[in-house]
Amino acid sequence: MESPFDVVGWDGTVWPFAFPILAYQPKTGLVHLPPTIHSTFASRGVLVCSFVPRVTDFHPEAIPCPYPHSSVDCDELIYYVRGNFTSRRGVGPKAVSLHPAGIPHGPHPGAYEASIGTRSTDELAVMIDTFLPLHVTEQGLAMEHPGYHDSWIEKAP
Ligand SMILES: [Fe+2]
Repeated sequence: MESPFDVVGWDGTVWPFAFPILAYQPKTGLVHLPPTIHSTFASRGVLVCSFVPRVTDFHPEAIPCPYPHSSVDCDELIYYVRGNFTSRRGVGPKAVSLHPAGIPHGPHPGAYEASIGTRSTDELAVMIDTFLPLHVTEQGLAMEHPGYHDSWIEKAP
């Protein structure tokens, strides 16, 4: 069998690597833990977090839904693979979101309340935090969901 490392010209700086994402089990806690518990890879200027099916915060009054935040140091790109993303209404499998540095974002109205009492999540997503700004291509801009920035506005019942 050929080794993937047996390549002419490979200088060793890029390491071919398969990551069995479902084998990754992040720490969970009594209350909500910071997103760094989902870190699976880090390098200069980038952090990769893997959100996998897991038990959620287990205090009886815990709020498993992530809190609103503004990441002032990095852009956040998330690829939603599968599962139910409790914090984001209208975001489903195969969606990609980009929250540039400094832009506030978080759960939709009602998502906080709906998450209380939940015991697990089946979400599978990968987040890439970049510490230099990402630049969206014309193709990326053409795929933009035109109402995404309005999705936090609470709708009248
Ligand atoms: Fe975020």
